[in-house]
Parts: sequence; structure tokens; C-alpha cells
Amino acid sequence: MRIDVLTLFPEALAPMLRIGVLGRALDAGLLTVALTNPRDFAHDRRRTVDDTPYGGGAGMVMRCEPLVEAIDSLINVNSLEHVILLSPRGRVFTQQVARELAGLRDMTLICARYEGVDERVSKQVVTDEISIGDYVLSGGEVAALVVVEAVSRMLPGVVGKWESVDTDSFYHGLLGPPQYTRPSLFRGDAAPSVLLEGNHAAIQRWRRKEALRATCARRPELLQQLSEEDLKLLAEIGAETPMTEKENES
Ligand code: ADE
Repeated sequence: MRIDVLTLFPEALAPMLRIGVLGRALDAGLLTVALTNPRDFAHDRRRTVDDTPYGGGAGMVMRCEPLVEAIDSLINVNSLEHVILLSPRGRVFTQQVARELAGLRDMTLICARYEGVDERVSKQVVTDEISIGDYVLSGGEVAALVVVEAVSRMLPGVVGKWESVDTDSFYHGLLGPPQYTRPSLFRGDAAPSVLLEGNHAAIQRWRRKEALRATCARRPELLQQLSEEDLKLLAEIGAETPMTEKENES
């Protein structure tokens, strides 16, 4: 897969791309991420990429020409069929969206700065808008990194053990179970004995139950399409957890 990222701060994004799983995937050629600076396509000597908004108001707006010309310059390396603007106005990014994007041959991510982007960029070249959550960032760079990381994990060969991706929180619609490693006893707190006993079926059951417990407590709206076994585990959890006084009252 090829991902082109348009950013006014390529030097800030580049080091983040080099670390960990993503860095190794790029080195192995499993994925290409290229950074393009719209400032290189500005028309004036001062390389201006923004201007005051028509109609007045606070802040600056990113101009059309540098952004659209930067995108046009990619025509020989990117199909430009998926040009995504990172914006708080976009559809919310989820694991499901990451999986959808991982199926593409290429995509282009636009990181906006200032108060936004001239609407004609959206009209003429943008095919999708993505938000990483209901809050406003000062720019799309962090959001682009979130998308690149989450999408790259879904590409074949990027994560060494597919099992790691398979058990990621949200992959099967639940939050992940808690994890433990050595030492088995830490300051009086023992790791659950089932994880140390080597009974694979019992471990799987424990993990599923703890994933259900975490999801039930933290994100109950995610509990959908549960199997008979899940319902049984949830019933066990319900029987274990003493009700608080408040819950008893309602
Ligand atoms: N740019 C500013 N805020 C954003 C958000 N929440 N998601 C994506 N891009 C953004």
C-alpha cells in the first residue's frame, strides 16, 4: 500500500514513522509513506499557504492552490481515488474504518492547519473526511499518524504475529482482556493462576470473560452480537459482582 501525506510539517512526522512496527514495515517495503509539503507549491516568494477568511472572522484558512497542486503532483504515483481530509467534521475513525482503508491500494491524507481548508479543495479533490474523535486539534498531523498506524497494522506481514492483531481491542468488537507478565507476584498482587497453568482452553475462556467484563464496565454500547457462550460468561460476571447501593436503588 502507498500512503501520501500532505503536511506543512514533514520534519515532525518523519521521525514518528521510523519507530517500532511501522518503521520495520516501511524498511521491509510492506508499505510506503511519502510526505509532501504544500508549501513547496506556493506561488509567492514568501511561500504563503494561508490567507484571511472571506467574510471576516478569526484565524486563517489554507488556500486552494498549494494544496490542490501538491495533490496534482502525485498523479504518477498515486491513483488519487482516495483523498482524505483529516478534519473534526469527518466521519469518526474506528477499527472498522481502519480495516476498510487497509484494503485500498493507495490513499492520500491531507493535514490541515489554521482554521480549516478552502471548501473548494474538498469539492474538487477530497473524496472522504475523517475525524479521529470529537475534539479539535491544532492540525491534522497527529490524526494522520493515528490513521497510518492503525491502517498499517492491518496489512499482511506488518505485525509479526497475526494473533496480536486478532486480539487487539476492537478487532472482535470488544475491549481487550488484561495482560500479565513476570513476576507472577508483584508487591503482594498475584497474576491470575489460570494464565500460569498452561491450560489453553481455560486461558481462552478467562480472556473472553475478562474482555466481556471490561467492555461491560467501560463501553457497554459495544456489546452486540453476543454468542451463547458470551451470554453465559456475562451471567457469571453478573452473579460475581455485588451491586452497589446506587444500582440497587434504581
Ligand atoms: N484536525 C483537527 N481536529 C481533528 C480531529 N478531531 N480529527 C482529525 N483531524 C483533525
